[in-house]
Amino acid sequence: MAEQADFARRYGSWAVVAGASEGLGAAYADELAARGLNLVLIARRSEMLQALASDLSKKYVVETKTLALDLSSASAAEQIAEHTNDLEIGLLIYNAAFSAIGPFLDRPVEDHLKEIHTNAFTPLKLIHLFADRMIVRGCGGIVLMSSLSAFQGSAYISTYAATKAFNIVLAEGLWEEWRERGVDVLVCISSAVRTPNYVASEPEQTGGPGAVTMKPDQVVREALNALGKGPYVIPGRMNRVASFIMRHFLPRKVAVRFMGKVLRDMYVK
Ligand SMILES: NC(=O)c1ccc[n+]([C@@H]2O[C@H](COP(=O)([O-])OP(=O)(O)OC[C@H]3O[C@@H](n4cnc5c(N)ncnc54)[C@H](OP(=O)(O)O)[C@@H]3O)[C@@H](O)[C@H]2O)c1
Repeated sequence: MAEQADFARRYGSWAVVAGASEGLGAAYADELAARGLNLVLIARRSEMLQALASDLSKKYVVETKTLALDLSSASAAEQIAEHTNDLEIGLLIYNAAFSAIGPFLDRPVEDHLKEIHTNAFTPLKLIHLFADRMIVRGCGGIVLMSSLSAFQGSAYISTYAATKAFNIVLAEGLWEEWRERGVDVLVCISSAVRTPNYVASEPEQTGGPGAVTMKPDQVVREALNALGKGPYVIPGRMNRVASFIMRHFLPRKVAVRFMGKVLRDMYVK
């Protein structure tokens, strides 16, 4: 209980969850409401956001607001700023992502640019927007979602993995810049998670090399418990071991080829 109060004091009174309508985003919303934070829930599907907001308001004593918009649009951050101006945002969770799976040239260049917009451009703008006020207040938190695919080039999801590498390096740098100014930055580097999005991608097998597929609530709890303790977290013990081996014992070229084979088996049918 004391821990929950401490979390709400440090990262309240409002959290923004970008990409909140289902899967990991909805799990973040549930866990944050349980920890006493009010929520701004953002995604494209308005009815799903409203259903989640009403569910959370019944389960917990929190306020919720929903905002239906496309995070890949150039003006997404400005629209969010306009709708949250009067709120004290203590925590930003950027969960939304777009992944154009398949051979690079099979996808129009617009899909690759949409990955950059959704996964890198908008989170960067939102961090700039919210961290500014957090630094002035001397407290707050930012959580970015990344993927084990970002630790090396990952064939058939090359642009996605590159945007996720951007998130890792950005979060680590900002963690160092702001850790003594009261603002905690964390990147959650996840293995496969059974979200509707992941299941819809119809992978032939689950997980990466040695990695374990997780449930959204497990990932979210590990991420929020790690906030304030370091720049990154890899949820799941087996995933930490598999990733350590990939990064420290395999030559980079071998890791890239290994990942390429796993992804080819998963997605290139
Ligand atoms: N699932 C995995 O296996 C896995 C593995 C490693 C890392 N991750 C990372 O974890 C995060 C979430 O995972 P997920 O992809 O499985 O998704 P998810 O948590 O199931 O849902 C993605 C959420 O983002 C929203 N969203 C997506 N594009 C959006 C857009 N353009 N504008 C507004 N909202 C948008 C979706 O809602 P609407 O459709 O209603 O907009 C949905 O609420 C991502 O950052 C991903 O890179 C996932």
